[in-house]
Amino acid sequence: MAEALYVGLMSGTSVDGIDSALVRCNRGSVELLATHAHPLPAEVRTAIEAISHPGDNEIERLGPLDRELGRLFADATLALLATAAVPPGAVRAIGSHGQTVRHRPPCDAADSFTLQLGDPNTIAEITGITTVADFRRRDMAAGGEGAPLAPAFHAAAFARPGINRAIVNIGGIANITLLEGETLRMGCDSGPGNTLLDHWIQRHRQHSYDRDGQWAAAGTVQPGLLHQLQGHDYFTRSGPRSSGKEAFNLAWLDEQLRGFPDLAAADVQATLAQLTAETIARALQAAPVIASELYVCGGGAYNSDLLRRLETAIAPVRVQTTAALGIDPDWVEAMTFAWLAQRTLDGLAGNAPAVTGATAERILGGIYC
Ligand SMILES: Nc1ncnc2c1ncn2[C@@H]1O[C@H](COP(=O)(O)OP(=O)(O)O)[C@@H](O)[C@H]1O
Ligand SMILES: [Mg+2]
Repeated sequence: MAEALYVGLMSGTSVDGIDSALVRCNRGSVELLATHAHPLPAEVRTAIEAISHPGDNEIERLGPLDRELGRLFADATLALLATAAVPPGAVRAIGSHGQTVRHRPPCDAADSFTLQLGDPNTIAEITGITTVADFRRRDMAAGGEGAPLAPAFHAAAFARPGINRAIVNIGGIANITLLEGETLRMGCDSGPGNTLLDHWIQRHRQHSYDRDGQWAAAGTVQPGLLHQLQGHDYFTRSGPRSSGKEAFNLAWLDEQLRGFPDLAAADVQATLAQLTAETIARALQAAPVIASELYVCGGGAYNSDLLRRLETAIAPVRVQTTAALGIDPDWVEAMTFAWLAQRTLDGLAGNAPAVTGATAERILGGIYC
């Protein structure tokens, strides 16, 4: 279809709220028209955190949370459209990622699955807008990791002939995209983004996140701990790979810290920031093509301490945010799912097999009219 409006909805592993973006897609081009950050009530955030780890009575907790999130995603959409003064009838579709509560690749493991909540029937019913959702599971069924999906959008939005660019999305988990001119050469999750930083400062200072990385900047990286953290199995993998809070969480960190009982909490924070920066840099440096430009998006783009560490680790590549390419770093992921909704409705593939490891391209998601 030629020009049309889409809404993209994203709530990531940081569980910091719902990002909603109004996007105009016109064949190849994608334009951000309006944005809205919708809060998640504290009890919903708590319920998401609780169900993100195996526990009792999961179906009874999951069912109502799925519907409640559907209502919140619908509210986020209607609030966005009110801000933009756009009637729901003018929107072709919503692309809703949903809230991941479990991501367990690889697809060939007997117990592999990925699950995102936020009932799309409820979203479609409340908004009256066709909703496309459940993007990850078809890729996993086709032999892929189901993630990351953003690199295909990064290629569509940011690739330029003759320039090798890296796009790095630093959310709870970090993912990287390497573009060789207009070709998507590789993409994967590099490992933790902000998730360990968030949880560590929540435990020790009761802040939801480390603003500008000030606390990390006040600490000193501990080389012994850094080396141990870098020994996580995930960092030995190459090729298609994706990760989640299943692999990187406080329980894992506590185990790693057993051999380092006397460290100051700020030094641990500094070491965690260094881990994020170095694992992003290493994943990019291991790629067959070296990027000459690097652009960061996601909430980590506002962590100046983290960006400084990344710049040092990846030197001489210059680190900027996607704002330098004309797209506010906060909204790239929500835009991804608006773009994916368009791909699905137009009968076009949404996954990049070179990234996810799927056997072939697939049209992603279910359509709720
Ligand atoms: N000013 C800031 N300073 C440091 N970190 C920030 C700042 N703003 C956002 N963040 C980080 O970004 C995270 C949210 O990023 P986001 O891209 O929404 O991740 P997700 O997709 O996992 O929800 C926050 O939890 C926080 O760690
Ligand atoms: Mg978020």
